[in-house]
This record gives sequence, structure tokens and C-alpha cells, in this order.
Amino acid sequence: MSATKPFPPLKNDLILRAARGEKTERAPVWVMRQAGRYLPEFRAERVENDFFKICRTPELATKVTLQPIDRYDGLLDASIIFSDILVIPQAMGMTVEMVPGKGPHFPDPLVHPSEMPAKLKEKVDVYQELQYVFDAITMTRHALDGRVPLIGFVGAPWTLMAYMIEGGGSKTLSKAKEWIFKHPKASHELLNRITDVCVEFLVGQVRAGAQMLQVFESWGGELGPHDFEQFSLPYLAQIAKRVKAALGSEAVPMTVFAKGSWYALEQLSEIGYETVSLDWTHDPVQAKALTKGRVTLQGNMDPNVLYGGDEAIVAAVERMVRGFGSTGRYIANLGHGILPTVPVEAMELFLKTVHRVGLEVAAEESKIEIASNVNIIG
Ligand code: CP3
Repeated sequence: MSATKPFPPLKNDLILRAARGEKTERAPVWVMRQAGRYLPEFRAERVENDFFKICRTPELATKVTLQPIDRYDGLLDASIIFSDILVIPQAMGMTVEMVPGKGPHFPDPLVHPSEMPAKLKEKVDVYQELQYVFDAITMTRHALDGRVPLIGFVGAPWTLMAYMIEGGGSKTLSKAKEWIFKHPKASHELLNRITDVCVEFLVGQVRAGAQMLQVFESWGGELGPHDFEQFSLPYLAQIAKRVKAALGSEAVPMTVFAKGSWYALEQLSEIGYETVSLDWTHDPVQAKALTKGRVTLQGNMDPNVLYGGDEAIVAAVERMVRGFGSTGRYIANLGHGILPTVPVEAMELFLKTVHRVGLEVAAEESKIEIASNVNIIG
């Protein structure tokens, strides 16, 4: 499939405008991990097909990407391509399996730095190894028919390195941390190699049709401030800079999500991303004060509020949207991915409430603006 056929015109560019810092008529909304495990139509697809088979088959990835867009018709302002952060370790030569009910499993993880030459490809041809993601993006962009923008993504280098060493999820990340403390030089080499793949992969995703990009540093908060500054931040910064340099005038807005790294919010707002995604440990007003309008903020309701019943959801959305404001530099989202057992109705209420409160707050904000203009003139 080629990206040369023109894409359908975009009918809803709210999220792109919010990311660029333009005023919006209401806060756009989407939800991390919105396509997938909590949706009955996705679970039905998974009975038929292995997780990575869905990722690798553009028709299936397109179908699953569109599932939440169709189900919550008109309520979502963005789609995110169905894939996984772990396609990069696969492209680098590692085997990753998705064990139902358990999560990712690397049968042969990186145990010691001396194994890098044997377990990782010297050169990764992104256009060969990950062409299936580019094809899925191009096909999805056509299938979306301009309803909402399509977000591409990668896992950040530290998070991917940690998976490659731990071999799956971990409570302590003690193996990956042993690397950074005992083998800092080899750790930086690995982080650099992953960064190179991330950059090329993101550039390819935009050329294939992605209209916005997100970098997931899901395990950022496992590092303290000092180690985050050594082993995460420089690579996140490189990614933004190099992707933008490669794309030039074709560059698209980029979001960084470093979960748990509350201490790094100011730094994250100064390294070249248009948007910083926040987990629920941030207070909206404080986060806005710290970042001083330099970036658009995205987030940040605790995904577990979706288990709290209607009243709790409405109250939390009210607090969130009123805290961040609705028409300037804000994208509503959860503070992390939606969880697998959330009822679909709770997600619907979340989205509808963001719309309702967003419009109310927007009306209040425009009144305040008119009043202040009158004051200036008067
Ligand atoms: O709408 C979407 O966001 C779908 C695309 C998407 C998936 N994974 C699909 C998926 C995205 C953006 C991701 C990102 C991802 N993958 C992250 C970063 C976001 C985060 O939550 O911090 C991480 C850490 C992973 C790694 C990963 N993939 C884990 C830990 C797991 C198992 C637990 C889980 O989340 O279900 C996966 C599997 C996975 N990725 C599923 C889906 C739909 C479920 C797999 C299945 O169907 O068996």
C-alpha cells in the first residue's frame, strides 16, 4: 500500500489545534488504550487472532483501530493506531509473545551486556521490519475518512530497554536497574540503539499518514530524578529534536508521557514536545503553573475512577476540566491506559461528560474574555 493516494480531508482537527496551542471551542478528548481489551468487539477479534497477528495484518489493525471510533461515534477526537510499544524490540531481533491474561513475555531476554551482539541486530531496517505498521497507518487513515486525526506512537528507550532486560512486566525492575548502575556505558549504548530505531520509526509513521505522535515512557517513574535525567530525559529530547529535523515542514505535534515522573514536569515541557501527558498524581492547576503555557497538557483522570460509578466519574471530570480549562492548551484523557475490565458505559459517560463540561467551561471562559476585553477598551 502506498501513501501517495491523497488522504480524505480532516473534518475534526480539534486535537491538532489544541496541541499547537490554538484556541479550541472545547477540550478535545481521547483515551490511552482506547482500542482493545475492554471492548467486547476487540475480545471477539482476539478469540480468532493472536495479538501480534492483529498488529501485523493491516486490515485487522485498521478494523480494531476504528472500533472505539465507531462505538463512541462523535465522542472521540482522535484515534491511535492499533499496535504495541514492543514491536521495536521485535524489530531489533528479540522474540516477544503476548500471553493472554498475563501480558508480554520475552522467552530470551537480554541478561548481560555481552549478549547484545548476539541478540540484537547490528542494523535495523525499519522499513523492512516495521513496514506492516506503516501499511496499517496508511490503510487506517483512509478508512477513518477524516473523522478524527490518527496518532502514531513508540515506547520510549528506557521503557523498552527495561522490557528487553526484564523479559516482561516487573514489580521492581531490578534487572534493568542493575544494568544502569553496574553497566552504565552499555546501558547508554542500548538506549542509543533503541533511540535510533524510535526516531526512524516515528518519521516513517508520519510519512505513512500519522498526524500526531506520542512517546510512552511508561516506566519513567521507576527512576528517581537523578537517574531519569541520565537514562530517560536525554533520549526523549533526542527523539523530539531528530524527528522534527527529519520531517521539516511535514512535522506533526508530538506528545511525551512519562508516567510517574512528576518531578520532571518542567524539564519535560522544555525538550521540544508540543504536549505533555500527565498521570493522575498531578494537580491540574499546579501543572499549568509549572509549565506556564509552554506546552499543551493532556490527561489526567485516574483510570480507576471509571470503576467508581456515575457520580464519581462526573465529579472527577468536572474537577479535571475545570482545573485545566477547556479552550486553551488542554487535551482531556485518562492519566494512564483504560483498564481491561472497565464497563463500556463508564467510558461513554466519561467522554460525554468531558464534552458537556468542556462546552460549559468554554462558554464561561469566553464570557471572561469578553469582560476583560471590555475592561481593556473601557
Ligand atoms: O488504543 C490503544 O492504545 C491500542 C494500541 C496500544 C496497545 N498497547 C495495544 C495492546 C498501545 C498504544 C499500547 C501501548 C503499550 N503497550 C504501552 C504503553 C502504554 C501504557 O499502558 O503504559 C505498554 C507499556 C505496552 C506493553 C504491553 N502491551 C503490556 C504491558 C500489555 C499487557 C497488559 C495489557 O495492557 O493488556 C500489552 C498488551 C496489549 N497491548 C493489549 C492491547 C490491546 C492486550 C493484549 C491482548 O489482547 O492479549
